[in-house]
Parts: sequence; C-alpha cells; structure tokens
Amino acid sequence: MASRTRRLRCDEAPAWAELQSYFEGSGRALDLRHAFRADPARFEAFSQEAPHVFADLSKNLIDIKSEALLLQLARECGVERHRDAMFAGEAINETEGRAVKHWLLREPRGESSDPDAAKVHATLDAMLSYAETIRADAAITDVVNIGIGGSDLGPQTAVLALEEFAVPGKRFHFVSNVDGHELASVLRRVRPESTLFLIASKTFTTVETMTNAQSARAWFESQGGRDVARHFAALTTNVAAASNFGITTTFGFWDWVGGRYSLWSAIGLPIAIAIGTERFRELLAGAHAMDRHFATSPLARNLPVRLGVLDVWYRNFHNFASRSIAPYHSALKRLPAYLQQLEMESNGKRVDMQGAPLAQASSPVLWGEPGTNGQHAYFQMLHQGTDRVPVEFIAVRRPGHTLAGHHEQLLANCLAQAQALMQGKPDEGGHRDFPGNRPSTFFVFDRLDPATLGAFLALYEHRVFVSGSLWGLNSFDQWGVELGKVLAKALVPQLDAGDVAGLDGSTAGLLKRLTSRI
Ligand code: F6P
Repeated sequence: MASRTRRLRCDEAPAWAELQSYFEGSGRALDLRHAFRADPARFEAFSQEAPHVFADLSKNLIDIKSEALLLQLARECGVERHRDAMFAGEAINETEGRAVKHWLLREPRGESSDPDAAKVHATLDAMLSYAETIRADAAITDVVNIGIGGSDLGPQTAVLALEEFAVPGKRFHFVSNVDGHELASVLRRVRPESTLFLIASKTFTTVETMTNAQSARAWFESQGGRDVARHFAALTTNVAAASNFGITTTFGFWDWVGGRYSLWSAIGLPIAIAIGTERFRELLAGAHAMDRHFATSPLARNLPVRLGVLDVWYRNFHNFASRSIAPYHSALKRLPAYLQQLEMESNGKRVDMQGAPLAQASSPVLWGEPGTNGQHAYFQMLHQGTDRVPVEFIAVRRPGHTLAGHHEQLLANCLAQAQALMQGKPDEGGHRDFPGNRPSTFFVFDRLDPATLGAFLALYEHRVFVSGSLWGLNSFDQWGVELGKVLAKALVPQLDAGDVAGLDGSTAGLLKRLTSRI
C-alpha cells in the first residue's frame, strides 16, 4: 500500500541538493524589482486561476528555475502518490491508524464509490433538515456553540465570514475557553427559552468543552429551563457520551475527520443554521472544486502544490520562521486563527513518520489581523524590521455593502502594502529607508461567498498537506497537545488543596501565589 511505503523526505531527494546549490548561487540574492524588469511576463508566469480563487505569486522570491526544482522535489518525494493515497481512503494518518477523508464530506451525492459516502449524505441531510427547522423557529433567537479548537474555529470563522448571508433574527455565540468569563458573558445575554446550545466536540471528552457544557446545562435548569432535548444538541463522533450527557439530538461524524478539518461535517451545524441548506451546499461545492483541482491538475498549475513547495523554500532555504495573513475583509477576522490551527497543529512536528528527528525546520508561525488594522499596528515591522516575513494578502473584488468610497480605499491599501513591501524606498537612507524586496502572495476573490470560502479553506488544507508531505511528517496527528492536558488534570486537585508536593520550584511558587489568601 502506497501509504505504508516509506516516502522520501525532502532533504533526502536529489532535487534538494540541487536546490541548495541554486539557492547559494542565485536564489538567495533574487531581487523582485530586477526580476520584474527582466521579465515583463512575470505576473502571468507566477499567477493562476484556481476554482473561485485567483492567486498572484509573482511577488515571491522564486524564479522559473527554483519553482521547477521545487516541483521536481515534490515529484521525487512522491507527493502525488501520497495525495492519491489520501483520496483513495488509505490510512495515511499512520500514527493513529486512520484514513484522512474530510474531502469525502464535500463529494457530491452519487459521485463517490467510497464505502462511507452513503452515511455522509444521510447525516448531512439530517443535519441540514434540523438546521432548517431551527432557522424557521422564531422562538430560538440565540445559538451558542460550545466547542474548542477545530470544534470552534471553523464554524466561528465561517459564520463571521458569511454574516452577509445569515438568517435574520438569530445571534450566534461561540464559547471555547474554560475561562468562565467567556460563558458567563454569553449567559448574561441569553434566555433559556430562546437559546439553542450546540455541544461540539469530536471526542466529547475535551475538558474545556465538557466543563462549559455542564455549566450551560446547570444554568439552563437553574433559570427554569426544562426541555433539554429541545435546547441542547450534540455534534460528535462519540454519540454514546452525548447520550450519557442527556442529549437526545446528536449529529455524528467519524474518526477519519480530523478536528481541524471538521467544519464540513456536523461540526458545521452553526454555519448551516446561519446560511441555510443551499448556501451550506455551496460551501461544500467550493471546497470540492478545490479538491478536484488538487487531485487532477498538473503540478505546475496546481495551486496548493505551488504554495506548498513555496512554503518549503521559504522555511528551509530562506529560513523565514513566520508568515503573516492579511485578509482585507473585516468579516475574515477569525481566518488567521483558523489557519494558525490548521497549519501549526498539522505541521508543527519535529519527527518524521517513522519517529526520526527531522533534518530541517517544519511549520512556520502563522499570525495576522485583517487589513487595514494591521497596517496601523505591526506593519512597521514588516516593512522595516530586521526579519523578513512573507505576507499573504486577500482582497475581495465586490464588497457586500453599498457604502460609498470605502472599498476603493480598502483595495488601494491592500495593493499599496504589497507594492511597498516589494518596491521599498531605498533612496532616502537611515530611518526613512525601506529595503523592499519583501515577498508577498496576493489572493483575489470575486466575492466573499460560501463557495469561495469553501474553496479557499480547502486550498489551505491541501497546501498544508503538500508541505507536510515534503517534510515527511504526519500532518494529521497532534500528540503535542497531550502533555499539557495531563499536567493540568493533575494540577487541579493540587490547586484545590494548595498542595505543592512533587512540583518544580517555579510551579510550586506560582501555585502558592495563586492560591494564597492575601
Ligand atoms: O487538543 C487539541 C484538539 O484535540 C484539537 O485537535 C481539536 O480540534 C480540539 O482539541 C477539540 O477537540 P474535540 O473536538 O474532541 O473537543
């Protein structure tokens, strides 16, 4: 089976050595200003259409030769075989012995021969019909999603992004943190008889979510709420645990859907309530179009592949340790956080699939804020700081509002920032000197609609797949979150008792400080 065959890690492939010498010879010194002067067709060569998304990669530190070598690297490392193994339903999440099939959640009915396709569509139909019932129920004015990580960020990002398409008369709240301030703040604003709580947890064991769910139910009952069946629903793979909690309405999904890849599953219920059946299906269709693009396009015109190899080039050759996301659309305010989990939880690993240490760096830090806000905060560092940080701009051609003058200003700012990063202003010297030659990628959406959002998120999923595949790691596990969970569990009784036995000096000192009565 392809997934069981040891794949070549990028640093072991012949193209790696070629890339190293090309980087030392001319790649490192590439100057974008010269590159544009030397090649009037550079924009055409390094930009492309993919489903619902146009991407301009021309302001990146690549040329025809380095991109060709990077694509050769992808071929040598078997990225295509690995991709095909994912789409064939093989257990490519080897450390957990699971298939990786979030793409199946977006396959149109009747198009897949996968044995799980029928249950995917049965659950989707049930979930969408429930969503329509809630949409039509004027007595429910507030929907509170209780979940964390992938059970929060996906639905939250999409509900905010697609606000323009949302059903009127309903408010959506997202409670993720175990910090009671968050839940308390929402509970102050809702009433039991008009609130639907969605308990979203793949495992239905996550401490934050269970603590919030229990407190929400206790609040509901203490406020006179009686009908738990009407006011609570669960979204989980662990249907038995939801039923033990007393929830009778549950929409399931499966262990082959990773948490950070789950917004397409029952975890997407808040999105479906917000935008309705037709729009939710458009979200899935947009993602599916990107799946087909990834599965079938030649590598040189395959946008997730071109982005994924660029990520490796930047991380391992240029040594860029972070990437900044700058969506020029305020409704995309949670997108940087969503992409942060997607990429950093997937590729923030230091060993390969066999458990051997990686010879090269892996996931960069992802961060960002919507433009133009970021411009008045941290863009100073992007333009004049000592580090170079690749920036990803997202601009939307058609706004979802009719306010005069705003959109031109927004787009002008987005273009200007990318322009300034590249061009710089080297003629003034000293404090006013802009070095320029700072790379960026520029995405253009025609409109921020469900299909486009779906396509863009799938594009990112596949790009992360490509860089993770080249690094030879498992993008689909997350063992690194476990240790903190175990230690926190052990510390709860110690905090209760003020007991510092067995703790290191710092933790003991802090625990005493936190528990002392002044
Ligand atoms: O702790 C990390 C994590 O497992 C994420 O991968 C996941 O998205 C999140 O916790 C929530 O998990 P669950 O949906 O099982 O509550």
